[in-house]
Amino acid sequence: MVRLKPILEIRNITKKFGSLVANEDVSFTVGEKEIVSLIGPNGAGKTTLFNSIAGFYPPTSGTVLFHGKDITGLPSYKICKLGVTRTFQIVQTLKEMTVEENIMTGAFLHTNSAKKAREAAGEILELTGLTAKKDVLGGSLTIVDKKRVEIARALATKPELLMLDECMAGLNQTEIKDVMQLCLTLREKGLSLLVVEHIMEAIMPISDKIVVLNAGKKIAEGLPKDIVNNEEVIKAYLGDRYHAKSGKS
Ligand SMILES: Nc1ncnc2c1ncn2[C@@H]1O[C@H](COP(=O)(O)OP(=O)(O)OP(=O)(O)O)[C@@H](O)[C@H]1O
Ligand SMILES: [Mg+2]
Repeated sequence: MVRLKPILEIRNITKKFGSLVANEDVSFTVGEKEIVSLIGPNGAGKTTLFNSIAGFYPPTSGTVLFHGKDITGLPSYKICKLGVTRTFQIVQTLKEMTVEENIMTGAFLHTNSAKKAREAAGEILELTGLTAKKDVLGGSLTIVDKKRVEIARALATKPELLMLDECMAGLNQTEIKDVMQLCLTLREKGLSLLVVEHIMEAIMPISDKIVVLNAGKKIAEGLPKDIVNNEEVIKAYLGDRYHAKSGKS
């Protein structure tokens, strides 16, 4: 296997909330043009790790390197400007704005020109299948389309690393397939992705690597085919979910 240069390197990240240790000494890398999925039970610390990486708060200790540069504790807008953008587990659509305007807010990270922001939004509307809905107000969208807008707005910031936090939750099979295809298309376009997801059937086929968290700690890291057979992962998380369905239990 060709080892790709890491675009993101997380070294020994610990995040404490008072006495609660939400992340403990977590280290892994995301290579260029890799899809890395972060999985684990509810409360394992996946979103907390996203928040530390993306600058929503600093980790208690440890280092986040982007292209080898220490970005630990930088404010989120600076990290976003460098090329790391995340979506939110709870979608944050701007209700009074149209879909196009929602996407333009992302594009304004790199331009003050409304014309340029609209052009950038146009390409992303196409890519995310939202063109027909560009004039619909954010507040009247279905949850599925809100999730699409969330991804589209993140893409408008032109990330090199896109971090998706449970963007497939609540979607039907066809919609999940669309998001899987979008992830693959983005990788082809040169992006790297860090994906938090509970839907194993969706992430196992598209991931280059899986990292498993449990109670804040990394318990496994490897190829999807190895992770599904990892005893500790099955015990902590996959058990009656994916493993059983794949007929191996
Ligand atoms: N701002 C906060 N203050 C205090 N505790 C927090 C905070 N954010 C998260 N936690 C706690 O940290 C732990 C990890 O939470 P986190 O949201 O990162 O889990 P998760 O893996 O994303 O779970 P889920 O799959 O349910 O989204 C939980 O015990 C949670 O209650
Ligand atoms: Mg979460």
